Amino acid sequence: MTKRVLCLTALTIALATLATPQAIPLGRGPAPAGPPPPPFGGRLKVYESAAVSRGLSAYTSNCASCHGATARGNTAPDLIRSSVTMHDTDGVQLGDNLKAAAHQTVAKLSLPADQVYDIAAYLHSRVSDSAGRGQVHTAEVLVGDPKAGEAYFKGAGRCNTCHSVTGDLKGIGGRFDAPSLQERIVMPPRTAGKGMPANAIKATVTSQNSAPVTGVLLRLTDFDVILRFPDGSQQSWTINHGVPKVVTTDPLQAHIDIMTTLKDSDMHNLTAYLAGVK
Ligand code: HEC
Ligand code: HEC
Repeated sequence: MTKRVLCLTALTIALATLATPQAIPLGRGPAPAGPPPPPFGGRLKVYESAAVSRGLSAYTSNCASCHGATARGNTAPDLIRSSVTMHDTDGVQLGDNLKAAAHQTVAKLSLPADQVYDIAAYLHSRVSDSAGRGQVHTAEVLVGDPKAGEAYFKGAGRCNTCHSVTGDLKGIGGRFDAPSLQERIVMPPRTAGKGMPANAIKATVTSQNSAPVTGVLLRLTDFDVILRFPDGSQQSWTINHGVPKVVTTDPLQAHIDIMTTLKDSDMHNLTAYLAGVK
C-alpha cells in the first residue's frame, strides 16, 4: 500500500463521493463551489458518443501521426496510459499540455477548446474500453484463460497480497455477472459506509502537541480537514500553512494503479478466473 499525500483538489473531489448526508461541521475556509468533477479525471466519465466520434476524427488528423492511430504511441508517447490523460478532466489538462512550451516545440498546434474536449472524450473512452468499462457483453468478457488468471492473481498482479479466493473473495463468481466482476476488478465501488470501511480514504492528522489521529477522511481543502472515527464522531482542524500535517492513505490506490498497467489479456484472464470462484 502506497501512502501518498494526494493532490488536494483531487482529494476534495474524491471526497465528494464519500460525504455523508448528515451535516458536517465545517472548519474555516470556503466550501468547494459548483458540481465536483469526477474523482479520477475524466476517465471514468461516460462521454456522449457524438463527442467521442468527433474526437476520433480530430485525434486522427492532429495527433495520430505521432501518437499512433490507436493512441497507443508511435514516435510520441502512448496517450491511453499517459498520466496527463489520467489526470485530465474534460480536456483541460490535455489542453494545457498542448499549449505548454515542451509540446509546442514538437508540434505547433493550436486547437480550439471544444476540439480538445472532443479529443479528451475520445481518449477517455479509449481508457474505459481498454479497462473493459465500455459496453461489454458476458461472452466477450469471459474469453480469458482462468489458469493464466490465477497465475497473474498470485504472481505479477500481486492481488493475493490483499485478497484471497478462500477469504474475502470467496464466492465472488456467484455474486456478480462477468461485466460487473470485471468492473470491480478495475475499480471497486467506494462507499461512505459507517465505521471505518475498507475502501474509504483514510487520513492521519499530526498536530504539534498531540498524538497523530487517524480516521475516515470526510473533507480536505487547503484550509481545513475533517475526519470521522469508528464511533461516528467527527473532528475538524483548521489548516494554516500546511500545519497540522495531513497524510492520506487510499486503500484502493492499488486498484487505481492497476488501471494503468493491466493489459486487456490480464483483465480477461482475471475475470475468467474469478468468475469460477464459487
Ligand atoms: C509532431 C508530433 C506530435 C503531434 C502531431 C502531437 N504530439 Fe503530443 N507529443 C509529441 C512528443 C514528441 C511528445 C513527448 C515530448 C513531450 O512530452 O513534450 C508528446 C507528448 C504529449 C503528451 C504528454 C504525454 C505524457 O504522458 O507525457 C500529451 C498529453 C500529448 N502529447 C497530446 C497530444 C495531442 C492530444 C495531440 C493532438 C492534438 C498531439 N499530442 C499531437 C509529439 C506530437
Ligand atoms: C493493496 C491492496 C490491494 C491489491 C494489491 C488489490 N486489491 Fe482488490 N481491493 C482492495 C480493497 C481495499 C478493496 C475494497 C474492499 C472492500 O470494499 O471491502 C478491493 C476490492 C476488490 C474487489 C471487489 C470485491 C467485492 O466484494 O466487491 C475485487 C474483485 C478485487 N479487489 C480484485 C483484485 C484483483 C484481481 C487484484 C489484482 C490485480 C487486486 N484486487 C489487487 C485492495 C487491493
